[in-house]
Amino acid sequence: MKKLLLFSLLTGFAFANMQFAKNKECSSCHPAIYAEYKTSQHAKATIFKDPIHGAVYDKHPQYNKLEKYRCGHCHVPTADNLSALLKSHNGVTPDPDNETQNEAVSCAYCHRIEDVKHGVAMNKNMVSLKDKVYFTSKSKPGSSPYHGIETNKSIFENGKMCMGCHSHKSNKKEFQVCATDINNNASKKNCIECHMHKVDGPPSTMSTSKTHTFHGFPGLHGDLTHLSQYVTMNISTKDNNKMFTVVINHDVPHSSTMHPLRSAKLVVTVNSGGSITKMQDRVIAKTIGSKKGGSPVPTAPWLATEIVKNTTIPANTKIAYPYKWDLKSGDVVTATFGYYLVKPKALKKFDLQDNEEATKFRVIRKETFTVQ
Ligand code: HEC
Ligand code: HEC
Ligand code: HEC
Ligand code: HEC
Ligand code: HEC
Repeated sequence: MKKLLLFSLLTGFAFANMQFAKNKECSSCHPAIYAEYKTSQHAKATIFKDPIHGAVYDKHPQYNKLEKYRCGHCHVPTADNLSALLKSHNGVTPDPDNETQNEAVSCAYCHRIEDVKHGVAMNKNMVSLKDKVYFTSKSKPGSSPYHGIETNKSIFENGKMCMGCHSHKSNKKEFQVCATDINNNASKKNCIECHMHKVDGPPSTMSTSKTHTFHGFPGLHGDLTHLSQYVTMNISTKDNNKMFTVVINHDVPHSSTMHPLRSAKLVVTVNSGGSITKMQDRVIAKTIGSKKGGSPVPTAPWLATEIVKNTTIPANTKIAYPYKWDLKSGDVVTATFGYYLVKPKALKKFDLQDNEEATKFRVIRKETFTVQ
């Protein structure tokens, strides 16, 4: 009991307004990490810096009917008026002139997450009240002239600290619109291993260490080079060259896309003596929606009550996509697998047809195969 009381005195639920050091304050001693971080979606998670998040919020009933920004829990957790942003009907919505809202998912916020508590609609981050003490996974961290350092292996070593925001989210209809659903039996299941790999250069200007964990958090927005090692492809022929299959080996402990806006696509062509034939595209995505009349139709995430269709590739799964085509010796099959941040069919609904980021096809892997 005493221990529980102490814990609650030292940590605050993320929705109380708290003070956090600014990202800029870390740049002088951690220049490499700061530069990487600035390119990441964590630094751009606000409606001002992420036009896709802005476009969805713009159409959302939380903005249009309720004057609230529940998104702030995860997109601007260091706002100095967070509790007002989370409440309905008080006229408080995101403000581009509020500096603390522009900090997005900040350095100090992440490094003050003491624990993650399970929640039904979404998880909660328990944030330490010690405003200049930062958590690390290292048993013997160095010391800093600017801040304290505390070891917190239980959530910083295994990626559990990511799960306050990345675990799951339900809408008002109690339908889970997204979930990471990690495969606990996977040999590689630590978010940090794949999304914060080691790169050259010391973690601080005062460190003798030669490498640090990359803070660009690679994902669908950015450079997919590092992540591509976990999504491989293999092309082979069958039935005397009357058929071929493209196998995608998705060696990732979560499904191929998790956010309801996303979709993936497998594009395959056959080049026969210079004449190129495009096979039918395979769309790999999850569509959510609700029943209209008898059958379910796609809707915006906030109206969804069920899964309409799901062709995403589950965690750590190989899927074979067959194609019926009469191949000749010397024909070249090319397969390209990649993602869209916003499903092409949803672009118009969010007025994102002309947004380059939203419309770009992001290739993670391309393979060719010459028929024997
Ligand atoms: C005056 C220099 C200075 C500033 C400013 C500074 N740090 Fe540090 N920080 C250090 C030093 C020195 C270490 C010890 C480890 C090392 O040598 O890299 C360290 C270590 C850390 C660690 C633990 C790293 C480990 O070894 O696992 C974290 C986390 C951290 N800093 C976060 C921050 C954040 C967040 C900010 C900005 C709010 C910040 N630091 C600002 C100098 C600084
Ligand atoms: C529980 C935490 C959480 C809450 C609350 C939350 N989000 Fe997010 N949001 C995330 C995470 C994590 C991602 C990244 C997911 C991914 O890339 O698969 C994300 C990504 C997004 C994206 C995609 C952005 C892009 O650039 O592609 C949009 C759009 C978005 N959220 C809109 C919203 C809106 C609107 C709200 C509030 C109505 C909201 N989110 C509330 C955690 C949250
Ligand atoms: C999304 C959460 C998140 C954000 C944002 C974040 N970090 Fe980290 N940081 C981590 C995790 C997780 C680790 C790796 C585990 C560990 O070493 O504790 C880490 C590691 C570090 C380390 C030790 C690196 C090493 O390899 O020795 C330093 C220093 C650090 N962060 C500083 C910063 C600074 C400065 C910023 C902002 C410019 C920042 N972090 C932003 C989660 C975050
Ligand atoms: C074995 C490597 C690996 C591990 C471990 C891993 N991921 Fe991923 N992650 C990927 C790859 C590869 C992609 C690219 C999309 C795909 O095909 O899965 C990705 C994509 C993502 C995306 C963007 C997806 C989208 O829809 O926008 C998010 C967010 C993400 N991972 C979060 C996590 C979190 C949180 C964890 C830990 C619970 C984690 N990942 C563990 C490899 C990994
Ligand atoms: C405070 C909430 C929060 C925490 C903690 C957090 N994230 Fe995120 N993360 C987000 C939000 C919000 C987004 C989406 C931002 C956007 O696109 O607007 C995101 C996006 C991402 C993406 C997608 C990037 C892309 O290019 O599409 C990856 C990968 C990711 N996070 C990995 C991690 C990992 C790994 C950790 C733990 C070390 C972590 N996150 C911790 C809130 C968080």
